[in-house]
Amino acid sequence: MAYETIIVDVEDHVAQITLNRPDALNALNDELMSELANALTAAQNNDKVRCIILTGSEKAFAAGADISMMKDKSFVEVFSGDLFTAETEEIMRVRKPIIAAVSGYALGGGCELAMMCDFIICSETAKFGQPEINLGVVAGLGGTQRLTRLVGKSKAMDMNLTGRFMDAEEAERSGLVSRVVPCKKLMDEAHGAAQRIAEKSMVSVMVVKEAVNRAYETTLREGLLFERRMFHSLFATEDQKEGMSAFVEKREAQFRDR
Ligand code: HXC
Repeated sequence: MAYETIIVDVEDHVAQITLNRPDALNALNDELMSELANALTAAQNNDKVRCIILTGSEKAFAAGADISMMKDKSFVEVFSGDLFTAETEEIMRVRKPIIAAVSGYALGGGCELAMMCDFIICSETAKFGQPEINLGVVAGLGGTQRLTRLVGKSKAMDMNLTGRFMDAEEAERSGLVSRVVPCKKLMDEAHGAAQRIAEKSMVSVMVVKEAVNRAYETTLREGLLFERRMFHSLFATEDQKEGMSAFVEKREAQFRDR
């Protein structure tokens, strides 16, 4: 499928989706969000894809929702249209892992989009922020919710109230990103992580994603029960037999997603 605002490459079981509105620092408009949701659903439905990487350019992952597009909208228009809600719901339905590879600006909706991914690897030039307060609004896609769960109340308040940017070093220290690498190595690092994931049993991979995400939705007791029952359930798979036999036989496991 041909897209206007994103580029999709599928190679070696990894789908790389690159946001591509360079003139607007990949600002999120209706077309981009619709194409992105569409491409992610296509990756979910493509049996060849085992992991997804979402990235932008060296200068910007995404500088937020498109301000020119939103500027003249009325309350009724944004409320009735529920700006980007359908698209983000679709993104949240993807069960395969999504790695955000962030270089440059990840601001507002861009930072929120990165946080919707399963983990973030960033380059040393990355800058994260929720500057919506400077526009007379507030975050609308998780900047007060996901960011708070990821970095805690104090930093989330600071970021959302002052609109200041967090650099890569602070983002790693705060738990917002899992790894920081030099700019030139960003995509190699992301693809390396994606390849490692692609080698696992897809069943276990999807269970990990569900279980970790459940930690944000439920109590510790319920979350632990869910995890334990999923652990038990995996003994019904051939991949559990293969994985444990391979360990005992001192060979590489050959998972078949069964
Ligand atoms: C539309 C944008 C944009 C945006 C940048 N551009 N961000 N257009 N929406 N969010 C455009 C600029 O207008 C400019 O276009 C071009 O990209 C390059 O940007 P510059 O500002 O010239 O670059 P620079 O000086 O390097 O500054 C980079 C920047 C700055 C710090 C990232 O662009 C900036 O502050 N952008 C806005 C960030 C922001 O406030 N994001 C939150 C948006 S609200 P021209 O045509 O002039 O070259 C949001 C809400 C989400 O995200 C919730 C939705 C439900």
